[in-house]
Amino acid sequence: MIKVEGTVKAVREQVKAWKKEGLSVGFVPTMGYLHEGHESLIKRAVKENDRVVVSIFVNPMQFGPTEDLASYPRDLEADKKLCDNAGANLIFHPEPEEMYDGGFCSFVDMNGLTNALCGLSRPVHFRGVCTVVNKLFNIVAPDKAYFGEKDAQQLAVIKRMVKDLNMDIEIVGCPIIREADGLAKSSRNTYLNAEERTAGLILSKSIFLGKKMVEDGERDAAKVKAAMVDLINTEPMANIDYVEIVDVNTMKNIDEIKGEILCAIAVGINGKARLIDNFMMTV
Ligand code: PAJ
Repeated sequence: MIKVEGTVKAVREQVKAWKKEGLSVGFVPTMGYLHEGHESLIKRAVKENDRVVVSIFVNPMQFGPTEDLASYPRDLEADKKLCDNAGANLIFHPEPEEMYDGGFCSFVDMNGLTNALCGLSRPVHFRGVCTVVNKLFNIVAPDKAYFGEKDAQQLAVIKRMVKDLNMDIEIVGCPIIREADGLAKSSRNTYLNAEERTAGLILSKSIFLGKKMVEDGERDAAKVKAAMVDLINTEPMANIDYVEIVDVNTMKNIDEIKGEILCAIAVGINGKARLIDNFMMTV
């Protein structure tokens, strides 16, 4: 069974030993409760690197005070099996104290890209993500790191951070993995009962509608957004946080659909879960 390490020291020693042998190292950061979305990242990393490290850490710093830190699902045994079967070589699973001791006071913050979409409704979120990913990169020192397009803003933010801070790591974006009925896979889907899960399908339905409109030639962002909002509002359990179309490089709203665009939505379902979905396109 795959090895699980809880200390920074043990991970560093293992990675150093691999590098001494001339092996390349891929890295997949996660918060655990792994599903096929995470698995697709791990498999891609296994394909492209000699050794693969997966981190499983529910990072307190990226959760706001009223968010779901305490209830976030956890299942280390199942996660170990998934990592093992996917071909990963090491899991880094630290306790919060290993990552943040009492004197911790350094942060990685970003001024652009985070003042939009999820950054507006989750004000401390990306500071927590950037800080922990920076720490994890310093601990694992990978050649390549893998992130899902499911969290498109996070992917853009991490790419920007790596560029701005001259980190010698290649960031690889991987496509969204969905259930057969369209729902984007997420650890947070477990918060939903059967009826709410069906209601959650309104996210992917509106994403597919918006994508089709753009593919069919619509270039007016307001029209696409309005059609998506109307569709989401037909679902009584849905509560829209945002429906936006932005330039993927700046996260700024656009009126005319052209260039590299991101259409992203966040929708609450019955007050139980806040789900996100998106499509990206070059027009
Ligand atoms: P987590 O939500 O566990 O996601 C870990 C990685 O899996 C992210 O890069 C995410 O985009 C990707 N992922 C999740 N669902 C996916 C899906 N359906 N298809 C494709 N990829 C998917 O994102 C985080 O953790 C954290 O913010 C983290 C980066 C680990 C920092 O704490």
